[in-house]
Amino acid sequence: MGMKITPSILNADLSNLSAEIARVPSSDGIHLDVMDNHFVPNLTFGLPMVESIRKNTEAFLDIHLMIANADRWAPAFAEAGAESVTFHVEAADAPIRLARELRAKGARASMALKPATPIEPYEDMLSELDMVLLMTVEPGFGGQKFLDLVLPKIQRTRELVKKTGQEIWIQVDGGVSVDTIGRCAEAGADVFVAGSAVFRAEDPDAMVNQLRDLAVEACH
Ligand code: DX5
Ligand code: ZN
Repeated sequence: MGMKITPSILNADLSNLSAEIARVPSSDGIHLDVMDNHFVPNLTFGLPMVESIRKNTEAFLDIHLMIANADRWAPAFAEAGAESVTFHVEAADAPIRLARELRAKGARASMALKPATPIEPYEDMLSELDMVLLMTVEPGFGGQKFLDLVLPKIQRTRELVKKTGQEIWIQVDGGVSVDTIGRCAEAGADVFVAGSAVFRAEDPDAMVNQLRDLAVEACH
């Protein structure tokens, strides 16, 4: 299982994003947190920002939409050229139709679950997805404490993914650091978002590599 690190720029210098992205050349993608002050109590940026970032980088863009009415807004992010678009199941009226639409527009389709949302009701639609994002904090802010109570859900999701026989990535997001990444990897995650851990490190790129090494190690 290839372990991937996708740094979140939420706590980076947003006035100088190209430079911030250039600080993590070893990353496997850049995680962009779109918030609408409705689905979550915080506001970040939207489609025009993502379109600008797309023009300025070749990096794999991993969009995390924390917005209401995902059915209406998510497809445009795929059209903007993002490689992966994640919508929250709590914000989607028709997740299967939406996942199919994202794939039809050329993006990987991904669905996120808040910490208290169970995975079991979605077992039958896993094959429609390229990735499941399991939030390990309540979405809305960077720098929060990792919620260990999500670990059993990571394990259960890995079991359900195995049953599909497909290669569906399992991403964790929130409080991922050198202290917590091993537990996530052991439980079955293979894609790791890290915001403050990476951008508050003295050497962000070295931190990306250290986190990946720790994830690989935890699975041996
Ligand atoms: C939180 C966001 C995360 C956040 C992670 O709602 O989805 O991507 O930036 O930040 P850290 O790694 O600091 O918890
Ligand atoms: Zn995120």
